[in-house]
Amino acid sequence: MSVKKILFVDDEQFVLDGLSRLLREYRERWQFRLALNGKEALEIVNNDTIDMIISDVRMPEMNGLELLERLQTDEKTKNIPVVVLTGDQERSLKRQALDLGAVDLLNKPINKEDLVSRIDNVLKLKEYQDIIIEKKRALEEQLVISQKMELVGVMAAGAVHDLSNLIAIIIGYSNLFIEASSLNQEEALSMERIRRAGEKASDVVGHIMRFSRLDDTRTMVNIGDLVDEILSILEVTVPKPIKIQWKKPHEAIYLSGSAIKYQQVVMNLCINATQSMEPLGKGKLKVSIQKLPREGEGRPSVRIEVEDTGTGMDNETMKKIFYPLFTTKEPGKGTGLGLFVVKHIIDQYSGNIEVVSEVGKGSIFRVYFPLDEGV
Ligand SMILES: Nc1ncnc2c1ncn2[C@@H]1O[C@H](COP(=O)(O)OP(=O)(O)OP(=O)(O)O)[C@@H](O)[C@H]1O
Ligand SMILES: [Mg+2]
Repeated sequence: MSVKKILFVDDEQFVLDGLSRLLREYRERWQFRLALNGKEALEIVNNDTIDMIISDVRMPEMNGLELLERLQTDEKTKNIPVVVLTGDQERSLKRQALDLGAVDLLNKPINKEDLVSRIDNVLKLKEYQDIIIEKKRALEEQLVISQKMELVGVMAAGAVHDLSNLIAIIIGYSNLFIEASSLNQEEALSMERIRRAGEKASDVVGHIMRFSRLDDTRTMVNIGDLVDEILSILEVTVPKPIKIQWKKPHEAIYLSGSAIKYQQVVMNLCINATQSMEPLGKGKLKVSIQKLPREGEGRPSVRIEVEDTGTGMDNETMKKIFYPLFTTKEPGKGTGLGLFVVKHIIDQYSGNIEVVSEVGKGSIFRVYFPLDEGV
């Protein structure tokens, strides 16, 4: 087992010394670093790999709450678990610390058993969290790859479609000449070659068309389970002050199609929503699914709603969000393919999308997919 590094932050040197002394017998498993305030703590965190932090609240220079805030806003440090030390009676401080992303609280004066078991638990949780973060990274990587594939697929499909029209013209005209029999033998032979080449090209195009449909295996996808899985991964990876609200419907709802494609739709909408709240450092992502009864001539459908309290969009942005490569994110952060692919998949499944947004308030994306009769 690797040695874990724990950072203690307290403005009283004797508390720090006391803590280190208290845990002397654990030195083989845990290595301790000490800081006298938030500022010193940040410096250490930025220059070393720290596995967890135990911090006091009241400190000069930078207090524990500010430290929590700063840790949360930095991608590199936001996943370091922080346990906050408070007095028994300090209820509002405790609340604030938890709201700012503290994973746990410890009452002062500290008792050794509590401290040891708290450290043990937090480090175990951190290990699970790291596994999930790695899983999310892999999933996002897969998402980018499948998004690019989708784009290539869309472009190829367009090109193939145009090609097959052109090839039909070549075959059609060469047939006309051959049938008109106004050509001499040599010309007729050349025309026959043109026709055969056209037919061969038509075969090749047919192969490409069949091949590009290969990965589109349709199954019955349990959409509640799918959202559940995506959110359980997001939950651990978004900054703590961003809350996720989601209630899986009791009844299983099945949509016909490819699980990967539904995953792309939900994942893109949820990631966009959390990204829109990240600059604000807090907010709420609300996801819901609802079965809607048949309306008039239409089929019954399923509505997936993704709502955020992020930056929102102005009208100019709203007009362009489904364009390929349109992004307002800084280079390296967004490719501008997310919603383009979302729209493409929704069209492919005869669905619909609605967007409501207000600058400074947030956005709601509503996606409708038709439900197969009798499901
Ligand atoms: N929930 C949202 N809140 C605010 N703006 C949004 C939201 N969703 C999308 N947008 C806007 O629409 C743009 C296009 O979104 P899209 O998902 O297509 O690309 P992206 O998120 O910029 O990059 P990518 O998804 O490829 O990483 C975003 O850059 C952003 O300006
Ligand atoms: Mg996106």
